[in-house]
Amino acid sequence: MKYLTKLCNKYETDKGTEFGSAHGFSEFYDFFFRNFEYPRILEIGVGNGGFEKAVNEYYDGNCEIYCIDIRDCSEFFEGYENIHFIQCDCGVEEKVKEVVSNLLKSGKFNVVIEDGSHFWNHQFISLLYFRRLVKKGGYFILEDLHTSYENAFSQGSNVNETPLQFVSTLLPCSFYTSAENREIQDSIDSCVLYSRNNEKRDSGRNTLFDRSVTAILKIK
Ligand SMILES: C[S@@+](CC[C@H](N)C(=O)[O-])C[C@H]1O[C@@H](n2cnc3c(N)ncnc32)[C@H](O)[C@@H]1O
Repeated sequence: MKYLTKLCNKYETDKGTEFGSAHGFSEFYDFFFRNFEYPRILEIGVGNGGFEKAVNEYYDGNCEIYCIDIRDCSEFFEGYENIHFIQCDCGVEEKVKEVVSNLLKSGKFNVVIEDGSHFWNHQFISLLYFRRLVKKGGYFILEDLHTSYENAFSQGSNVNETPLQFVSTLLPCSFYTSAENREIQDSIDSCVLYSRNNEKRDSGRNTLFDRSVTAILKIK
């Protein structure tokens, strides 16, 4: 089995340990990813396409990858028949619903990763709709939850809870209706939080927080 972090560093995604913010999430994901055979993986937020290419090589091409971005990223994947790109603004609920309903026609996913704008309301929208695409026993991953400490990412969310608070407690969140809260609560088997102990950021409230936090939600 290959080493996911090495491939993430090779393809320059910040999920590895060397490039950009060097979140190091790949160190942790490797434990989950190594158990899949011919997985279907979806990522929201493409960046330079490095993670999609790393995952493709990790499975020797024996996987199906979908990815979504607000920008047209299709050129990154020319020549990769098993990597499919969809352009969508994942902050627009109606567009997300349409993409999810189209994707459901081709089947569910082993893993869905949310790594888009990191705005809290976009993360809440993704958790509600894209989570529905995960197979029983699969994982919904909500990345960069350290942005829950940064008010700049609260734009437009008008809620009392941050995404990090919600996934940590699964107490009802004011972003959702009670039926949506129940649906999410009932669908989650467990939540594991991973934080890389790298450079700290200042929240502006005299506290420091870890710059790299991700949540892995196991779906029932
Ligand atoms: C942090 S980068 C993704 C990094 C990439 N996943 C990786 O691991 O290397 C965030 C991406 O989200 C995209 N993005 C920003 N706002 C978005 C939105 N509203 N809908 C969809 N994608 C968005 C950006 O264009 C950018 O490519």
